[in-house]
Parts: sequence; C-alpha cells; structure tokens
Amino acid sequence: MIEEIKDSAAFLSQRGVKNPKIGVVLGTGLGNFTTKVNIDVELSYDQIPGFPEATVEFHKGRLLFGTIRGVSVMVMQGRYHFYEGYTQEQIAFPVRVMKMLGVETLLISNAAGCMNLNWNKGDLMLISDHINILPGNPLIGPNHVELGIRFPDMSDAYSRDLRDKVKRIAANKNIRLQEGVYAVAQGPMLETPAEYRYLKRIGGDAVGMSTVPEVIAAKHAGMKVVAISVLTDECDPDDLKAINIDEIIEIAGKSEKVLTELFEELIKDIGNE
Ligand code: HPA
Repeated sequence: MIEEIKDSAAFLSQRGVKNPKIGVVLGTGLGNFTTKVNIDVELSYDQIPGFPEATVEFHKGRLLFGTIRGVSVMVMQGRYHFYEGYTQEQIAFPVRVMKMLGVETLLISNAAGCMNLNWNKGDLMLISDHINILPGNPLIGPNHVELGIRFPDMSDAYSRDLRDKVKRIAANKNIRLQEGVYAVAQGPMLETPAEYRYLKRIGGDAVGMSTVPEVIAAKHAGMKVVAISVLTDECDPDDLKAINIDEIIEIAGKSEKVLTELFEELIKDIGNE
C-alpha cells in the first residue's frame, strides 16, 4: 500500500499538484463547493493510479487542485464509503496521498442524521468528536512510519483551534452552527428506531456513513482536521418518519451555501496564518 500511495502522489505531482496546503473532502449533496476553486488540475478518480475503482453508483469522483482565496487546495468531490465494499485502507488512500503531497489540514463535509432533538433538519453541526462503530479502522496492520506513528493520539481529533475559528466565522456571519459528536454506522440502510436510541445513548448527536476512516488516517498522518455535518433528517426513535435519500440530498443542497461560506472563510484564515 505504501508504494501505491507514493506512486499516486508522484503521478499527481507530475500532473501539477504542487504543495497543496489544505485538503477538502466533500460529502453527499455537497459538491458545489468546487465552484469556488480556481482550478489548475482536474482529474477523475479513474485517471489516478492507486485510487480505488469506482462502483456503479459512484460516478462523480473528481479530484481538483487549485486555489481558493489564494490558498492552495486539493479537493475530493466524491468519497469512498464502507458500504460500497471498500476496505478502510482504500477509503483512507486519498488522504494518505494528500499527506505525501504536503497537505497539513483536512476539511470534511458530510450529510448526517440528527439524533439531538434540540436541533433541526438543515442545521450544520461542527463535529467535536466521533464514535467509531465500524468494524475496524484504517490503521490495522503494519504501521508505516512515513504515514504516521503506531499509536496516534485522538484527544484532539477535531482540532480545537480550528473549531474555535469556525465558531467565530459562524458567529460573524450569523450562521447557525451546532456542535456535537458524530457516530459512524456501516450503512447503506438507515437505522432502526432502536439503533438511533442506542447511538444517542452512547453519546452520538448525529449519525452518518462516512468521515471517520478519513479522520483517523488524517490524524495518524499528523494533519489538523475540521469536519462539518449537514443534518439532513430528524432521527427521533419515538416518532421516526421514513427517510428517503432524495430528500436527504435535497436538504443537504439547501444547506450547502452556508457550509461553503464557512469553508471558504476558514480556508482564507488558515492561509493567512
Ligand atoms: N443515518 C445514517 N446516515 C445518514 C443519515 C442517517 O439517518 N442521514 C444522512 N446520512
């Protein structure tokens, strides 16, 4: 795997992906952020050696390199999910390629179900922490010191510094922002009422099917991480409505504008540090 990561990074570097400072992974229904990028390099995932092959439903995998407000960014539009059959190593692969190319900070977005009933569908949630209940994680197996240390610390997985910055930006722009714990489930089915009740009881505020493998790989790689969920459906175990994926995508699309604003300002702030 390490050789494939290096080959992939070398390929991208040769294609002009030079010194990206910030990596961005965009979630379901949240791809329009790419309109903010002054694009220098654009590749579909199937053109990049080592990137896992796309599944049928996953046709929009695009990697962009360019600048946002003068800051160099490497953006993944479309990600690999566990429920598609990828291993956690495969899901983490692009993040490790980012690390090899020099990315220091990773921004992630996703769509998630809202289990905290004080909040509303359409709200944004800054992830403060996560609970991994996927079977395994991307660090299982031999450790490669070029990627990171054997026992990475997870006490500040979602950088407190960067969270403070996001909260300041949200306050200045009058953007409603919740903060809480993201639990990751395997999917692709949504949760039963009993499962939502369980996930809430163990400390989850939101639940989704992504993000955690990438965050673990990013922390292992020494990156700072910020992740924001768009809360697309209300998961009240005592009054659970049937959820439809088109509605989830629609709600994500509606909140995308503010999420994009937050990410853009944050990128500008990080670039000016
Ligand atoms: N559960 C899991 N993943 C999700 C949900 C949910 O309710 N909503 C959006 N992604």
